[in-house]
Amino acid sequence: QFYALPQSPQTFKQLLMVAGYDRYYQIVRCFRDEDLRQDRQPEFTQIDCEMAFVEREDVLQMFEGMVKYVFKKVRNIVFDEFPRMSYDDAMRRFGNDKPDIRFGMEIMELKNTKDPSVSDLVAGKSFVIFDNSEFVAGICAKGCADFSRKQIDELTEFVKRPQIGATGLIYVKHSNDGSIRSSVDKFYSSEDLLKISEHLNSEPGDLILILAGAAARTRKALSELRLEMGNRLGLRKKSEYAPLWVVDFPLYEWDETEKRWNAMHHPFTSWSRDDDHFLDVDPGRVKANAYDLVINGVEIGGGSIRIHKRDDQERMFAALGLSKEEAENKFGFILKAFEFGAPPHGGIAFGFDRFCSMTILNQENIRDFIAFPKNNMGRDVMLDAPSSIDAKQKKELGL
Ligand code: AMO
Repeated sequence: QFYALPQSPQTFKQLLMVAGYDRYYQIVRCFRDEDLRQDRQPEFTQIDCEMAFVEREDVLQMFEGMVKYVFKKVRNIVFDEFPRMSYDDAMRRFGNDKPDIRFGMEIMELKNTKDPSVSDLVAGKSFVIFDNSEFVAGICAKGCADFSRKQIDELTEFVKRPQIGATGLIYVKHSNDGSIRSSVDKFYSSEDLLKISEHLNSEPGDLILILAGAAARTRKALSELRLEMGNRLGLRKKSEYAPLWVVDFPLYEWDETEKRWNAMHHPFTSWSRDDDHFLDVDPGRVKANAYDLVINGVEIGGGSIRIHKRDDQERMFAALGLSKEEAENKFGFILKAFEFGAPPHGGIAFGFDRFCSMTILNQENIRDFIAFPKNNMGRDVMLDAPSSIDAKQKKELGL
């Protein structure tokens, strides 16, 4: 049956569960006002699914099966069970909640003032950049000790790009003869550098690249540097697919500009009962019942087990700073629906365009899979849209 969706696809599919459907999927056209990237378009398509009386495991099993089926049918590729990684591990090891695990080169921390389990291997040697940084970490590029000055300069320029935002790049070269040299030789003795290189598991012939700064930003920069090195070294092979589930996301993320918590997935996502007591006192610690399917560094799908009780949904809206009236005005329909004995339910949505470009071409750019894609200015150059609207239309629309 076809429906015109009266409100967001998310609440629509949830209301169908309340109405007694036990499984449902919709092919939805989505419109989003986000910064555009190669895997993001303002208009895209989702395969959007929901099931009643399910737990996380049911959703993961069902949709892992679907993805395996599609890959087998379309590409004759057979996968083993998809690995699972917690959000915290993904951020710590790869600096990214959608890690490309086709290759290693994991991030190793050398200093983290927020984490006492990380022993500080760099401070106290009069190198102010490391001394003053909250976080210092590096990656080890196998066999790259012979990188030239020019190559290192290029990488330095790369991490200094405004969108990456590192202030500089430190290197440690573990030469083939076993000697260790670095761009901070003035401050660190060979024994110090040996400790660093041991921590990063480097061997003769390897190159260690280190960034320092605020933790979140530096992790992100290292993640970009790792992917760049992966590209340069041909480690992100087109013939390889590495799917994984990322699980245990935080329920909230802090919005620094608005100075408030936002739902990391969406406000209908339920949370781990173990963290219930943190919800009102320390929201940042609460884990969500949310999951993403990631393939080769691209988020192909994401979903969650939902809230299905009115008082839980009200608590969530309150934590997001919505007054009772605002919650009622915006979401009264779903609060009301949850009073009628809504079943526990959950689901997932796949980015159809991303799924196609990944399965068929193993590429991140989804533009080739969208009729009339928008360019990075959000323009449809074929139709030359958006174009200007005349005064009469503006009046009709009350603009
Ligand atoms: P989410 O926002 O994670 O979840 O989106 C689900 C999937 O849609 C794809 N996607 C995009 N593809 C292209 N361009 C974009 N701008 C874009 N944004 C998202 C991604 C992503 O994994 N309602 C929830 C799903 C749920 O909870 O069931 C949702 O939309 O592949």
